[in-house]
Amino acid sequence: MPDTPMLQVEGLNVLYGNYQVLWDVALEVRQGEVATVLGPNGSGKSTVLKAIMGLVPIQSGKVIFEGDDLTHLPTHEMVSRGISMVLERRRLFTNMTVRENILLGAYHKSVTSRAASQLAWVESLFPILAERRDQIAGKMSGGEQQMVAIARSLMSHPRLLLMDEPYLGLSPKIVDEVVKIIRKVNSEGIAVLFNEQNVKLSFGVSNHGYLLEGGRMVLSGTGDEMMNSDVVRRVYLGV
Ligand SMILES: Nc1ncnc2c1ncn2[C@@H]1O[C@H](COP(=O)(O)OP(=O)(O)OP(=O)(O)O)[C@@H](O)[C@H]1O
Ligand SMILES: [Mg+2]
Repeated sequence: MPDTPMLQVEGLNVLYGNYQVLWDVALEVRQGEVATVLGPNGSGKSTVLKAIMGLVPIQSGKVIFEGDDLTHLPTHEMVSRGISMVLERRRLFTNMTVRENILLGAYHKSVTSRAASQLAWVESLFPILAERRDQIAGKMSGGEQQMVAIARSLMSHPRLLLMDEPYLGLSPKIVDEVVKIIRKVNSEGIAVLFNEQNVKLSFGVSNHGYLLEGGRMVLSGTGDEMMNSDVVRRVYLGV
């Protein structure tokens, strides 16, 4: 069924203790597209991605990927099913080399046997990673470190890549580089779902967008529809 979305999240409710953070959240990611979730601080963006990835427990709702119900599967199972995540602030081991960091993405037994060919693939996508393989990761620029973090996540050869605020803390010039990296990953046929607080950096790059406020999805549409919607223009762009 070509029209069935690759990822379908339905009626997602997530609580931290007694505190409900996500309320009936629904979203879809289609094969090969870039989708984004825009929302202010504390709206629950990271929690959406973590819930999909099995990093926080789901109270109720469904996570369906490629037609299979994967709700409640542990994170390593999600990885072997074809989803990978780049955590917020990259979380590199800054005292280890570029290559050591990338190889950490192949820790799972389903990937270890293919680590050499996966490494060759990610280094062909981003040749600078091979040139700089012995450099201490903490000495790379912010954009290069994000590239290392993305390369690490690609080691499991995901079909869907989740990214938690990929531009966080980066200067405008570096942000442009990261946008190019995301486009490059996507051009390999990998669908991308990322969250972000900046309208242009999210809806300007995405096929579909969602607006999350107070743990509820309040609007969705194509990237252009989202960018031109009244609420986004008024509240987020101030026009
Ligand atoms: N482990 C946790 N335990 C308790 N509350 C949490 C936990 N993680 C997040 N929260 C709360 O849940 C809400 C949503 O957090 P979340 O990190 O998903 O938001 P966010 O949109 O990603 O925010 P930011 O833009 O700051 O990254 C916030 O009120 C936050 O304080
Ligand atoms: Mg967050």
